[in-house]
Amino acid sequence: MQTTSKNVSTNQQGPHERLAEVVRRHIDCPDRSPLQSDSRDAYARLEAARAGRPLVLDAFCGTGQSTATLALRHPQHLVVGIDQSAHRLGKHVPGNAANYLLLQARCEDIWRLLAADRQRLDYHYIFYPNPWPKSAQFQRRVHGHPGFPLLARLGGRLELRSNWRLYVEEFALAMQLTGHTGRVSAVPGDTPATTLFEAKYRRSGHDLWRFEVNLS
Ligand SMILES: C[S@@+](CC[C@H](N)C(=O)[O-])C[C@H]1O[C@@H](n2cnc3c(N)ncnc32)[C@H](O)[C@@H]1O
Repeated sequence: MQTTSKNVSTNQQGPHERLAEVVRRHIDCPDRSPLQSDSRDAYARLEAARAGRPLVLDAFCGTGQSTATLALRHPQHLVVGIDQSAHRLGKHVPGNAANYLLLQARCEDIWRLLAADRQRLDYHYIFYPNPWPKSAQFQRRVHGHPGFPLLARLGGRLELRSNWRLYVEEFALAMQLTGHTGRVSAVPGDTPATTLFEAKYRRSGHDLWRFEVNLS
């Protein structure tokens, strides 16, 4: 990974013009695209590790640095870090806690399998998902994806972080369309970086933003 990074550059002037239309369509028409072949196996590993504990998800966890930290913050929970990249997960440095699990899977598939089983989360962290900053890439953003309405169904306290303020504001607008109003604020700069990308963005002098909502 490069040690510094440029600010996000976009051809959007404000929230995406089709945000409401796309999110409403996804609320009305649940995602029925095929699951990836190994998603059910990954979900089975989550269920096997759970042993009745309440769940915390660290979606798009990268190397899982944040997952290990969150496991210390939530000692009574099973904390599950999910990332699709074997390469990133392979760089995980094990933490001191035993109550976490890293899964190689597509987050949207795990959200779907959890929701199909009527599972609920206590906490859901989404730290620095890829921004997909071009307007034409809107549907690749978490809130432009057909899986987005599942977040509201999974419940819990959700926190999204990004170095792109517009991403966080769009996410907040999309969440409002599911009936949930949260709060956008700056990530305090005086706390230790929770993830590798957060550390990189801080080194690069970026402002960092978060959206928090209680979906319970
Ligand atoms: C910008 S990195 C952030 C990683 C980590 N959260 C951090 O802050 O250091 C985004 C991560 O999302 C993962 N990713 C992208 N799309 C994904 C998907 N649909 N499901 C699971 N992981 C995905 C990538 O492999 C990458 O590790």
